[in-house]
Amino acid sequence: MGARALAAVIKQVTGNMINGQPQAAHFDCYKYMAAFLFLTFTKEEISMIMRKGCFYIIAVLLIVSACSKSNSITAVTITPPPDTSLQKMMPFPMGASISVSLMQNNIKYNAVVTKEYNSITPENAMKFAALHTAQNTFNFTDADYLVNFALLNNNKRVHGHTLIWHQSLPSWVTNFAGDSAAWENLMKTHIQTVVAHFKGKLTSWDVVNEAFDDNGNLRNSIWLQKLGGDYIARCFQYAHEADPAALLFYNDYGHEYSAAKRTAISNMLTGFKTRGIPVDGTGLQFHTRYNQTDANILAAITAAAATGLKVHISELDIALNPDNIQGLTLTPALAQQQADKYKFIIKTYNSLPASQKYGITTWNVSDADSWIPGTYNRPDWPLPFDANYSRKPAYYGILEGVK
Ligand code: G3I
Repeated sequence: MGARALAAVIKQVTGNMINGQPQAAHFDCYKYMAAFLFLTFTKEEISMIMRKGCFYIIAVLLIVSACSKSNSITAVTITPPPDTSLQKMMPFPMGASISVSLMQNNIKYNAVVTKEYNSITPENAMKFAALHTAQNTFNFTDADYLVNFALLNNNKRVHGHTLIWHQSLPSWVTNFAGDSAAWENLMKTHIQTVVAHFKGKLTSWDVVNEAFDDNGNLRNSIWLQKLGGDYIARCFQYAHEADPAALLFYNDYGHEYSAAKRTAISNMLTGFKTRGIPVDGTGLQFHTRYNQTDANILAAITAAAATGLKVHISELDIALNPDNIQGLTLTPALAQQQADKYKFIIKTYNSLPASQKYGITTWNVSDADSWIPGTYNRPDWPLPFDANYSRKPAYYGILEGVK
């Protein structure tokens, strides 16, 4: 009976250690010892143990020693299981913008996209110049490839980007000669042909992209020049007519560094709601930087949520070399600062009401694929995967953000 009781105590104490609970402190171990001795044995048995019971004493010493070792663990390093992915771990859709040529030609890229994300945004394949190559010619080949990948093989959500923007316009548009009615028809035809093509396949669209300057004025784009400031509202109406089920977003950058811009965008969107213009969400691009202040990030997300619309962090990346230093190298300290900023953004976003969390999309997948080094001609490492598609500290920062 004494031996069985000893086995039970050993099981209990070692069980705690196997479960990796370093809080099984000395004190708890000594409590087990005392309980074991005084509850299990009679006085006579204890007396016998004292005379003859070397076995028990040795066993007790072994347990105390084991407990000392277990107590020496002061921190637990959590290594996620190999099948961890962002799409499994995030309590909201997690996406990336995707390059068609990388999907088709880079096995590692394709594997990471397939595994990690449940939402995708075409990085370039749905832009005006890519889809609408001449006035009466549309080319959906690349965009269809991505949509088919997402829906047929992987059941991922597809967010369309973008219907009306001042960039990525084909020359037939920038050279278009026509009165305002002809321009209106051009814009409406583009929106409705594209939205109708993907109807039932895309969940949502960036209807208008980057229509504001950083000072809060409307950008003096070709669309504003030809059609006047209310063209934005009409874009939403045209898109809604073509696919009433699609969720419609206004998308822009700079919310975190320009209060004037985010206020102008919020005013426009709340005005749309009042007028019954069909808008469902606001996209905060968040092409941001490791040293952007937490206060600014909080202000941007809070202001967006105050519209009552869905909030999409739609193009997230965090530059580590915003001052364009040639020859900068990626140090562990910089990588950790980036991880901390990813964590803060994800944590702040995750505090929004569930119905407003449309999701977070990073702008491409790995540092090798980012638009930043090429555009600014500098070294940089803005994304959660390194150039070899391994997870960076930033990746774990994202996971930490939802703990
Ligand atoms: O595919 C051609 C290639 O055939 C050609 O040889 C090469 C020569 O320049 O150009 C290639 O196309 C480039 C394309 O990216 C693919 O790499 C275009 O020139 C280049 O303009 C295009 O840049 C894209 C940019 O938007 C303009 O459309 C970036 O990839 C893309 O990341 C960027 O994304 C924007 C969002 O749409 C809106 N928010 C800001 C964000 C970053 O600028």
